[in-house]
Amino acid sequence: MLEQIIILDFGSQYTQVIARRIRECNVYSSIVRHDTPATQLARLHPRGLVLSGGPASVYAKDAPLPDRALFELGVPVLGICYGQQIMAHYLGGKVEPGQKREFGKGQLKVQDSFCPLFANLPETLQVWNSHGDKLAAIPPGFSRVAATQNSDYAAMEDRSRKLFGLQFHPEVAHTPHGREILANFVHNVCGCGKNWTMRSYIDTAVEAIRAQVGKEKVILGLSGGVDSSVAAALLHKAIGSQLTCIFVNNGLLRGREAVVVREVFGQHFKIKLRYENAAKLFLGRLKGVTDPERKRKLIGKTFIEVFEAATQRAGHARFLAQGTLYPDVIESVPIGGNPAAMIKSHHNVGGLPKKMRFQLVEPLKCLFKDEVRELGLELGLPREIVLRQPFPGPGLAVRILGEVTPARLNILRNADTIVVEEMKSSGWYRPRWQSFAVLLPVRSVGVMGDERTYDYTIAIRAVESQDGMTADWVRLPPELLEKLSNRIINEVKGVNRVCFDITSKPPGTIEWE
Ligand code: XMP
Repeated sequence: MLEQIIILDFGSQYTQVIARRIRECNVYSSIVRHDTPATQLARLHPRGLVLSGGPASVYAKDAPLPDRALFELGVPVLGICYGQQIMAHYLGGKVEPGQKREFGKGQLKVQDSFCPLFANLPETLQVWNSHGDKLAAIPPGFSRVAATQNSDYAAMEDRSRKLFGLQFHPEVAHTPHGREILANFVHNVCGCGKNWTMRSYIDTAVEAIRAQVGKEKVILGLSGGVDSSVAAALLHKAIGSQLTCIFVNNGLLRGREAVVVREVFGQHFKIKLRYENAAKLFLGRLKGVTDPERKRKLIGKTFIEVFEAATQRAGHARFLAQGTLYPDVIESVPIGGNPAAMIKSHHNVGGLPKKMRFQLVEPLKCLFKDEVRELGLELGLPREIVLRQPFPGPGLAVRILGEVTPARLNILRNADTIVVEEMKSSGWYRPRWQSFAVLLPVRSVGVMGDERTYDYTIAIRAVESQDGMTADWVRLPPELLEKLSNRIINEVKGVNRVCFDITSKPPGTIEWE
């Protein structure tokens, strides 16, 4: 059985980061709700438990509380921030409101260097804090391990019961030795080996896919994005010709998208690929449509029609494969309220109608994005696909303001190709970011040679974002902006002005529509 560490989520914004850091130690970790019963936890045979941080106070009326019995399981437990406070609160310590909210960097002094969490680490460490309440007394049986200026009990332990608490956040980058602290917990305290690698995951996943699918056929909607591409390569390895991929060209793709997909999957991997060129249908329906939401709805509806017809032509399949990732399946804890309201309607393959009665195959369901990329490379997919930036389902339609026409698409595609090329060759292209061109179909006056021009504007957008919910514009160097502007105006007919978008999200959104 795969060794695993289970994280109980008390609503911290860093819970997923804890899981990722532990997996970076080559140990599998999963996230469960904070109130998961101890008997249920025991059935999963964890090697250790982590109690995450969270925005609540242990004394609050609706404070999220775990099952007390988890401390009796005989499994090592690490409480982080609120997790430490819960541990203290349950086991006989005392939590009280801090005089001062401790937020930001702090200096940790390790007083007991025998504590296994701090093995091989300096005695003074920089740590990141974010808490209001703090520990006033530790529970019986515990000892103090480290302190900061503001808290006497920044770290505590009961070594015989393998219970540990940290007031600070070891999972964030602002705690530079945090990874080593977590590694000490999972390897030294919990005794986990280094068994979680994408190479070993391939074997497990291939077996699981074969067991689920048997001899049945599987359909997969290939978008050219990272997730569906990696899912396709993995499924192909598992079930070969039982897999049929459907790629819909909606006429709204970037420059090389359709070519790359056909080359890589059709020719190189020799996957059964149905290439549905529906560009005319999509563009015909988009004629005269200017409202962003109407565009999205139309594209979503048309996609489903085309995809459905293609699945029927592909013959009867019982299974539909999807590149769902772990962050989409974690049951989120709405503690402290999550105001992430839906601002734009997003239409992905996930929204296929219920009447398409498929059983789902989701071979990436327990992976984070970075792991999916690693898996893709391990499976032999080219970097151009694996290290690709996110691209919206409605494609270039949400990057042309107003009506989408073939002429405008042509202009935007040419400008966008230049942006991608230059971002890559200057070393500024990052898979987790988005950098692209937007077409503003308003005309302005310019002069080129001796001639007056009256053409469109291209806006360049480059944003850095972890999850798409918030984003900051990237401070690209002026030399790169200059090159982008020169190339776009010289090489793309119909454009005489280039702007750089310096809006963050919020208040802006990443896409312009
Ligand atoms: P916004 O523009 O809402 O974008 O800040 C957040 C993230 O979502 C992507 N995006 C979409 N993805 N269908 C998609 O599949 C859509 O309709 C859509 N609209 C925006 C956007 O590229 C960014 O990554």
